[in-house]
Amino acid sequence: MQRYGYSNGQPATAYSAANNGFPFSIKPDNRFQPKGRGFIRRYQQHLKLGGAITAVLTVLFFLFPSLRSFSLLSSNEDFQLETVRYHDLNNVQGTARGWEREERILLCAPLRDAAPHLPMFFSHLRNLTYPHHLIDLAFLVGDSKDNTISLLTELLNDLQKTERPFGEISIMEKDFGQKVNQDVESRHGFAAQASRRKSMAQARNWLLSAALRPTHSWVYWRDVDVETAPFTILEDLMRHNKDVIVPNVWRPLPDWLGGEQPYDLNSWQESETALALADTLDEDAVIVEGYAEYATWRPHLAYLRDPYGDPDMEMEIDGVGGVSILAKAKVFRSGVHFPAFSFEKHAETEGFGKVYHASRLVRDTI
Ligand SMILES: *[C@@H]1O[C@H](CO)[C@@H](O)[C@H](O)[C@H]1NC(C)=O
Repeated sequence: MQRYGYSNGQPATAYSAANNGFPFSIKPDNRFQPKGRGFIRRYQQHLKLGGAITAVLTVLFFLFPSLRSFSLLSSNEDFQLETVRYHDLNNVQGTARGWEREERILLCAPLRDAAPHLPMFFSHLRNLTYPHHLIDLAFLVGDSKDNTISLLTELLNDLQKTERPFGEISIMEKDFGQKVNQDVESRHGFAAQASRRKSMAQARNWLLSAALRPTHSWVYWRDVDVETAPFTILEDLMRHNKDVIVPNVWRPLPDWLGGEQPYDLNSWQESETALALADTLDEDAVIVEGYAEYATWRPHLAYLRDPYGDPDMEMEIDGVGGVSILAKAKVFRSGVHFPAFSFEKHAETEGFGKVYHASRLVRDTI
């Protein structure tokens, strides 16, 4: 009868006597024999070396007590490895008056052929009243054919030479194969919307996942082509202390055209009509607002505005426009993102609103 030493069917005789029964050396010539004498000797030398260093350090401690806090040999509480960072994520929840608690904001700006808008955008940045050192900037440049990157680099250099430099700055480059032209007509043409919104969503997710640090309490998404905005926009939005908040966005027009026009139709409340419409569409369809093809009859944030009313009036929304979004970082950390696919027949920032509501439903039922 053959004896099997191991349940996997390896005959025990495969292990030669020279192995001393060491089970993981399959080859009889024993090339992988562990821990020869040389190894042990070297190990002992290391030990001696370690001992010597300890002795020297100990002597220094007696001479220079202040050195103790830098040492690996100090008491357990102080024990810190240089390559390990500790973060307390309980402290980055985001509050109404973040500037008083030194809450950091990650400002994200996706860019594509954006050179014409960059000087204005940087003027906005300089005018922000939120403490600049608490704002980290992250740009994703994708599918650009103009000089966005070089101009961006130049403007950032100037920006950081000012009296109030910003925090950490990241520029990422990544193409998503977006072919739609960036001019207003093609960008807003109906046929292009679904694929455009899906690749925009990808850009946002790539940007955020690369730039979000454990130190961020807030994430602010800002389009670079915004013309006018209050310098206090970050504090104004933050004061509302919402998980996600967007301002009302209007488009300036010449006086003879009435001065301004509601622009961002992506911030809306859901309607029965739109839900019924969603049910009739293909699985990968994406409903976009402002097109005759998709008549949704949703209440829009943009049409709510009363120029003489209370600027702090709030409206609950289901879809979110992407021009200027302030969100607590914990929203993204908990898994809410910009769907780059059809989620409940929406994608990108409007889908973000939908995912957020879905996540709340889950939370509320727990
Ligand atoms: C920033 O502030 C300066 C000085 O008040 C002003 O001239 C400029 O137009 C502002 N920039 C923007 C983009 O609003």
